[in-house]
Amino acid sequence: MTNQTPAGELPADRYAVIGHPVEHSQSPFIHAEFARETGQHLVYERLLAPLDAFAATVRTFIEHGARGANVTVPFKLEAHALADRLTARAQAAGAVNTLVFDAQGITGDNTDGVGLVRDIEGPLGVSLAGRRVLLLGAGGASRGAMLPLIEAKPAVLFVANRTAARADELVARFADAAGRHEVRLAGGGWERVPAGFDLVINATAGSLQGDVPPLPEGAFAEGSLAYDMMYGARPTVFMTHALSAGAARAADGLGMLVEQAAEAFAVWRGVRPSTDAVRAALRARLNAKA
Ligand SMILES: NC(=O)c1ccc[n+]([C@@H]2O[C@H](COP(=O)([O-])OP(=O)(O)OC[C@H]3O[C@@H](n4cnc5c(N)ncnc54)[C@H](OP(=O)(O)O)[C@@H]3O)[C@@H](O)[C@H]2O)c1
Repeated sequence: MTNQTPAGELPADRYAVIGHPVEHSQSPFIHAEFARETGQHLVYERLLAPLDAFAATVRTFIEHGARGANVTVPFKLEAHALADRLTARAQAAGAVNTLVFDAQGITGDNTDGVGLVRDIEGPLGVSLAGRRVLLLGAGGASRGAMLPLIEAKPAVLFVANRTAARADELVARFADAAGRHEVRLAGGGWERVPAGFDLVINATAGSLQGDVPPLPEGAFAEGSLAYDMMYGARPTVFMTHALSAGAARAADGLGMLVEQAAEAFAVWRGVRPSTDAVRAALRARLNAKA
């Protein structure tokens, strides 16, 4: 971990995305673009941590002057355990995707859920207040999305999952927050999903195998948006299915990726980058690789 600096220049602040695997990560591209646009002097690398040495990798990175890191699969729970302090949204998510290193130690944050809500309410133009929202899946991504979704005050948030007990757990965990924000929160297995949602978010890992959750007739209300957290060069199977089942529009999770990165950048640097150009550039890169 060396950092070359031309004589007379201050060394750049160091950041990285830490994962296993990590070579596919688009984060170095995104943060380099943000740094260029905002004039921030930083370098952002990829760090492949051995599966049994996440904490050691983070500590070595800190010893080499790092200021922060993003954390990706499979280390988000270990990052949660490693942090000396957690933000409220990292506590609620039970997982950490953003680390801040400073004199106080290691702070764990989670920007995934905020990134999701920003993408939906910003570029996609859907205000969540008063809407009926269906969240499919009850894994780490769903849990991270729960508090930001509830804080956006939809009328209804229904969590459905293949393993019904995990959906029930999420509902129980967030019942108080839902009550405070006057959100009707319910959940269960696929068979309990009612009809008529304005927004259906797929946070299952099913798209990877081409699996689409079985939704009832009429799950997609008129004018509804289908959102798949997964993304790729082509529409995901969930997006294609949703459009044929009555959704008016479908979007993938590329915007969420960019928005969660922008939030992490703002946490680290105190300046919020704009995301439109980076989203377009990333889409073009994906399409070029297809
Ligand atoms: N765009 C972004 O920035 C972003 C950020 C985070 C995550 N994601 C995406 O979100 C997805 C979920 O990630 P995660 O971290 O939550 O994963 P996870 O913790 O492993 O949870 C996986 C979830 O998917 C369900 N599932 C898995 N295979 C399924 C299948 N064949 N049919 C139906 N349900 C299935 C699981 O149900 P059971 O409980 O029944 O096993 C569980 O609810 C992934 O595709 C990931 O790439 C995107």
